[in-house]
Amino acid sequence: MDERVMERAGETLRAGGLVAFPTETVYGLGGSALDAQAARRIYEAKGRPSDNPLIVHVADMEHLERIVREVPDAARRLAEAFWPGPLTMILNKNELVPYGTTGGLETVAVRMPSDGIALELIRRGGGYVAAPSANTSGRPSPTTAQHVFEDMDGRIPMILDGGPVSIGLESTIVDLTEEIPTILRPGYISLEMVQAVLGEARMDRGLISDDSGVRPKAPGMKYRHYAPRADLKIVEGPVDRVVSYINEQADRPGRVGIICTEETKGRYPKGDVKCIGTRKNELSIASHLFAVLREFDEDGVEAIYSESFRAPGLGEAIMNRLLKAAGHQKIDVTDRS
Ligand code: TXA
Ligand code: MG
Repeated sequence: MDERVMERAGETLRAGGLVAFPTETVYGLGGSALDAQAARRIYEAKGRPSDNPLIVHVADMEHLERIVREVPDAARRLAEAFWPGPLTMILNKNELVPYGTTGGLETVAVRMPSDGIALELIRRGGGYVAAPSANTSGRPSPTTAQHVFEDMDGRIPMILDGGPVSIGLESTIVDLTEEIPTILRPGYISLEMVQAVLGEARMDRGLISDDSGVRPKAPGMKYRHYAPRADLKIVEGPVDRVVSYINEQADRPGRVGIICTEETKGRYPKGDVKCIGTRKNELSIASHLFAVLREFDEDGVEAIYSESFRAPGLGEAIMNRLLKAAGHQKIDVTDRS
């Protein structure tokens, strides 16, 4: 961390400007959260609809207390267990938070990241940094400073490079304004981990229902996110059948991308094969997912077939992002011979 760089970054935020910065989940595009003008600049730089609210990043509990109507007991317990870290809480906002930051909502999303550069930037930038993922709206979230540069070059004055992030999927969002604490976006902190602290918690029905009439409550979850340019399909079933199905699809003219793991990478003789990680370590899969989707955009493949990563724990969050990237296209090969 360079003292002069951090000082300039803090000044830029305090003057209403934007700074991209690393967090443990993905890179964020930061602006002062109490400045509606800065929020407008964030939406503009991302090309994001302004009804999609931003997460306010804080560096200590006192700053949380100053922007919400109250800090419920559940929020204190979750903060105790998971902050600083990859958890965002939805609480009732007070008058300090402009509607420009919350997309017109009476609630505000708050998170305390654990990344050292992020915490230092928040402190120097005035204590409240609104930050969505630092990608152009619709592209995979950035997990390196280079990804941010690809999307934001010429649009923002500064990117802080903290190297590749460690988790690679956006934070878990828990809504604490409902009677039962509800997960609006799955992430590294799983439903089971939240239940272990609070006793009761559930998944938003809009996330798990196949009925498209049930809308997710986090406005951002309704958009088709993380979309690669190629047509992406997820292949599910016993591993041997998955491998042979994908090999059949790859055996044709035109470039076909394949997302596989260490365990299977030697079994795909054709296609643009990308190994995402190992099934022995789910974090290795999570942390490479968005980078792999970006690489396929550069390679210019026409179609992508991905193995499925269904598993307890992090698998929920990985599949949530992958399914969204695929526009929910799944192929079940269990009954194929
Ligand atoms: O890990 C993360 O959370 C990253 C890093 C930079 O901290 N940030 C991030 O922000 O993912 P973004 O803007 O890409 O996603 C924020 C999500 C959106 O789906 C948004 O709709 C939802 O949070 N959200 C924000 N405020 C909300 C609120 N008051 N009520 C419901 N959903 C909210
Ligand atoms: Mg995002």
